[in-house]
Amino acid sequence: MFHVRLSHPSDFDAWRDAARTALELGIAPEDMTFTAGDDAPGLFAEPLPPPSASPRQITVAKAFPDLARAILCHSDPERFLLAYRLLHRLQREKKLLEIASDTDVLKAMEMEKAVRRDSHKMKAFVRFREIELDDGTKRYVAWFEPFHHIVERTAPFFARRFAGMVWSILTPLRSAHWDGEGLSFGPGASASDRPKDDDMEALWLTYYASIFNPARLKVKAMQAEMPKKYWHNLPEAVLIDPLIKGAEAAQRRMLDTAPTLPSLRHERQAERDPMAKVEETANGGTNQPRTLDEARAEAKACRACPLWEPATQTVFGKGPEGAPVIFVGEQPGDQEDLAGEPFVGPAGKVFDEALAAAGIDRAQAYVTNAVKHFKFVPRGKRRIHQKPSMGEVKACRFWLELERDIVRPKLVVALGATAAASVLGKTVTIRDTRSRLMDLDPATKLLVTVHPAYILRLPDPEAQAAETKAFAEDMARVRAFVPEIALRG
Ligand code: URA
Repeated sequence: MFHVRLSHPSDFDAWRDAARTALELGIAPEDMTFTAGDDAPGLFAEPLPPPSASPRQITVAKAFPDLARAILCHSDPERFLLAYRLLHRLQREKKLLEIASDTDVLKAMEMEKAVRRDSHKMKAFVRFREIELDDGTKRYVAWFEPFHHIVERTAPFFARRFAGMVWSILTPLRSAHWDGEGLSFGPGASASDRPKDDDMEALWLTYYASIFNPARLKVKAMQAEMPKKYWHNLPEAVLIDPLIKGAEAAQRRMLDTAPTLPSLRHERQAERDPMAKVEETANGGTNQPRTLDEARAEAKACRACPLWEPATQTVFGKGPEGAPVIFVGEQPGDQEDLAGEPFVGPAGKVFDEALAAAGIDRAQAYVTNAVKHFKFVPRGKRRIHQKPSMGEVKACRFWLELERDIVRPKLVVALGATAAASVLGKTVTIRDTRSRLMDLDPATKLLVTVHPAYILRLPDPEAQAAETKAFAEDMARVRAFVPEIALRG
């Protein structure tokens, strides 16, 4: 019997080296044992001999390395051996991983799923709290209790998302630390190490209350998604009971004001394989969403470019289906990303003021963006807006085209060069195109103007006043071409 001791419970690199050596030496799975950390090996086990100087090339099914990586994060003590048994069998049974009824394959798939789910929960439920160290520096610390050994696997997500913060995630099994430049891992912590309340709590409570949608409330499903186990780490959990209690009345109010919800058929389909559906839509498949609600529900799963990952959510357009005008911005900003609606932050205020000056009713227009996810770089606690690349604009363009197909407006207004590039499918300058009504297709005109954020950023108050006036004049052109958009009463 041979024994391999791994340095920690999800030490994939050490497992892979040992598994290669064991395979090379022809050791059968039943003659191998593995332990991790300080766990004691069996009484009669001897260490694995060193690898040969010229190891033979091992080939495995393409899917195996990722599967083995995931299996090794599971809490089942048999995981190392299962992964080795699969590797051993794969040498002769090349198509083994395709046999879903095989006991080893079935177990491996279940373990992979459990690990993925645990990792997803960690991404969703980790809440950092700010603490001040003795030297006055700030640090963010979160406490989380995973079921499996997923800290190493999931920490890179937080490093990307919170690159500008110095943080630690403590769990009973292992801890992860980010110093702004690199990740390191250490032993587990005890619950008493976790920090207590801080002022970010209030922000979370407001955020949670604002995204709570009573019409979608399924208490059982919600508790399955957000098991009570996690609640004590979530500041917003204190809101769950009062929100559930108030949901019935709120739902009645919502039904009065918001008549359509995505169809059940569509929701079920999207739940099964959301990105497959998105790809079908992007590729012009026959089963396209037919309503804005269907499109909006589908866009939630969009991963057509990498911007989906650090963003809070897809920010789809807002407005009625038959709107005569579509306003297109660049991409959601910080506040839009949190609220899930376009143009609700500072640029939205400039936009609203210009619409009001022109007597346009925003509620009758459809407002959207060329890119539907917020692109930013983290700086301390702030998220700084980054201009989307042309690749990102192109990747997102099918959503805008779908919105246009469904809304069928008389006029599209491009707010800024990114929006104009997305609408036209080519780059143009604002100087060459501004304020003219151009033909987009036989039924639709295009008007290009500046982006409201451009006006906000002008340092000179006189230039700002002149641009505000010019922007309001463009909005007046919109109203003149589409008089039915005017404020009533
Ligand atoms: N800027 C945009 O282009 N769109 C928004 O929704 C907000 C800011």
